[in-house]
Amino acid sequence: MMVLDIVTMTFLKWVFFACFLCSSLGLKTSSQSCDPSDYLALREFSGNLTNGSIVTAWSNEANCCQWDGVVCGNNGNGSTGNRVIKLILPRKGLKGIISQSLGRLDKLKSLDLSCNHLQGGLPMEFSSLKQLEVVDLSHNMLSGRVSGVLSGLLSMQSLNISSNLFKEDLFELGGFPNLLVFNVSNNSFTGRIPPHICSSSSGIRFLDLSMNHLVGNLEGLDNCSTSLQQLHLDSNSLSGSLPDSLYSLSALQQFSISNNNLSGQLSKELSKLSSLRTLVIYGNRFSGYIPNVFGNLTQLEQLVAHSNMFSGPLPSTLALCTELCILDLRNNSLTGPIDLNFTGMPSLGTLDLASNHLFGPLPNSLSDCQKLKVLSLAKNELTGHIPNSFAKLTSILVLTLSNNSFFDLSGALSALQQCKNLYSYPHKEFHW
Ligand SMILES: *[C@@H]1O[C@H](CO)[C@@H](O)[C@H](O)[C@H]1NC(C)=O
Ligand SMILES: *[C@@H]1O[C@H](CO)[C@@H](O)[C@H](O)[C@H]1NC(C)=O
Ligand SMILES: *[C@@H]1O[C@H](CO)[C@@H](O)[C@H](O)[C@H]1NC(C)=O
Ligand SMILES: *[C@@H]1O[C@H](CO)[C@@H](O)[C@H](O)[C@H]1NC(C)=O
Ligand SMILES: *[C@@H]1O[C@H](CO)[C@@H](O)[C@H](O)[C@H]1NC(C)=O
Ligand SMILES: *[C@@H]1O[C@H](CO)[C@@H](O)[C@H](O)[C@H]1NC(C)=O
Ligand SMILES: *[C@@H]1O[C@H](CO)[C@@H](O)[C@H](O)[C@H]1NC(C)=O
Ligand SMILES: *[C@@H]1O[C@H](CO)[C@@H](O)[C@H](O)[C@H]1NC(C)=O
Ligand SMILES: *[C@@H]1O[C@H](CO)[C@@H](O)[C@H](O)[C@H]1NC(C)=O
Ligand SMILES: *[C@@H]1O[C@H](CO)[C@@H](O)[C@H](O)[C@H]1NC(C)=O
Ligand SMILES: *[C@@H]1O[C@H](CO)[C@@H](O)[C@H](O)[C@H]1NC(C)=O
Ligand SMILES: *[C@@H]1O[C@H](CO)[C@@H](O)[C@H](O)[C@H]1NC(C)=O
Repeated sequence: MMVLDIVTMTFLKWVFFACFLCSSLGLKTSSQSCDPSDYLALREFSGNLTNGSIVTAWSNEANCCQWDGVVCGNNGNGSTGNRVIKLILPRKGLKGIISQSLGRLDKLKSLDLSCNHLQGGLPMEFSSLKQLEVVDLSHNMLSGRVSGVLSGLLSMQSLNISSNLFKEDLFELGGFPNLLVFNVSNNSFTGRIPPHICSSSSGIRFLDLSMNHLVGNLEGLDNCSTSLQQLHLDSNSLSGSLPDSLYSLSALQQFSISNNNLSGQLSKELSKLSSLRTLVIYGNRFSGYIPNVFGNLTQLEQLVAHSNMFSGPLPSTLALCTELCILDLRNNSLTGPIDLNFTGMPSLGTLDLASNHLFGPLPNSLSDCQKLKVLSLAKNELTGHIPNSFAKLTSILVLTLSNNSFFDLSGALSALQQCKNLYSYPHKEFHW
């Protein structure tokens, strides 16, 4: 009796010890083995792929929480952390379609399948992923429609489906109250600018609709939040003038609308965009004077407004933009002298004023722009000498002065001998 008791006690101790070992080992590997339904969903997902490192890597391990690119976490119901909450597989060489089984990962918060070769459509089952906050499907070959799938994903904060082959009128899309980033650039979306994106997302910061087939005016931006920092609409077929509402986006840092069919004048209200760093509006039909309000835009780094129909003088307040690196106003109808005090523009790397009607002499102060690499003033009505001080422009790579009325260019040649990198002087046209 006594002996048996001791044996039983020892046995029980071992059982306890073994259990302790098990659980502590279990905790170490990943607090839990993965949820069986998530496991099956991921297996099905990888089963639909025809290439990519995960296809083989995933088959060697039973616990899907351990798989490359899979992150498990708390399911919000007790302390079990065995639900898949992130699937992060950018640049894995993935080929094939996106399985509808992903729609069963209903705790998924973050999905990144960017920079692969995935094709086909977004499965309708995606609309069950109500907890999705971050989606990056950019740089694949996905096609078809997205509105039906994405509408109703109310937790969405960042949506990047750029550089795919999606095609649809997005007009009805919207209703993402927590949206910060909306990037659908470089697809084949059609129709007008979807107004509900801005109306429903009061905190939106990045809006990128560039490189699509959007038409109509910019009215759809009327209710964009003043928290907007980047707005990109380049290379669409947008028309009409810039709406007044645009000038109230006081946090805007990057604004690009190049290569559209926009017209009308830039308003003096531009002065209210005091956070602006890049203003890229080339390849439109803007006309009138460029408002002389750059004293209020002291953060400005790039003004690229070539190939419009701007007239009138160069705005003298540009000289107050101490950060300006690129000033490109070529191919407009600007007149008057180059009357800027370049001494205040030490960052200037590109100055392109070619193909305008500028006249008068070159300003001496230009030689204070020690970082100047590209100076293009061809096809104007400039006169006078090339200042000797140009010998200070030792960084210069490209200089085009042709089709002006300069006096005695030969004198300038000696000055420019200091410019060791120079390769184009003075008659060759330089085209970007
Ligand atoms: C994707 O996987 C499912 C389930 O295994 C299968 O029924 C379907 O045919 C697959 N589709 C493709 C295109 O491979
Ligand atoms: C297949 O995926 C691997 C990465 O896992 C990648 O290196 C390879 O280029 C891919 N092959 C094809 C044909 O896409
Ligand atoms: C929480 O777990 C219990 C049983 O474990 C289940 O009945 C319930 O539906 C779960 N609730 C949620 C919100 O997942
Ligand atoms: C997609 O957009 C998000 C948010 O702007 C960004 O963090 C991510 O780098 C983008 N993806 C790619 C591949 O550029
Ligand atoms: C949108 O995504 C593209 C990548 O496809 C990226 O180059 C671009 O910077 C993104 N736009 C914004 C505003 O982040
Ligand atoms: C646009 O997307 C295509 C693929 O759809 C890609 O080849 C191209 O590099 C993208 N362009 C930019 C500027 O991102
Ligand atoms: C902007 O919001 C106002 C007020 O809610 C609304 O009447 C108007 O239609 C909205 N404009 C757009 C373009 O959505
Ligand atoms: C651009 O807009 C003008 C009217 O402002 C119109 O006459 C012209 O046809 C438009 N061009 C294109 C390519 O849409
Ligand atoms: C522009 O700057 C001037 C002078 O600093 C200032 O008086 C004016 O209020 C500014 N305007 C705006 C719209 O910020
Ligand atoms: C000059 O601008 C006009 C539009 O004003 C455009 O049609 C033309 O292609 C541009 N020329 C060059 C050389 O950029
Ligand atoms: C040009 O600006 C500099 C400071 O950036 C100033 O010292 C100089 O007096 C100005 N020159 C003229 C002619 O206004
Ligand atoms: C000025 O440019 C035009 C082409 O726009 C050319 O035909 C002409 O010969 C040039 N004139 C001079 C003096 O270089």
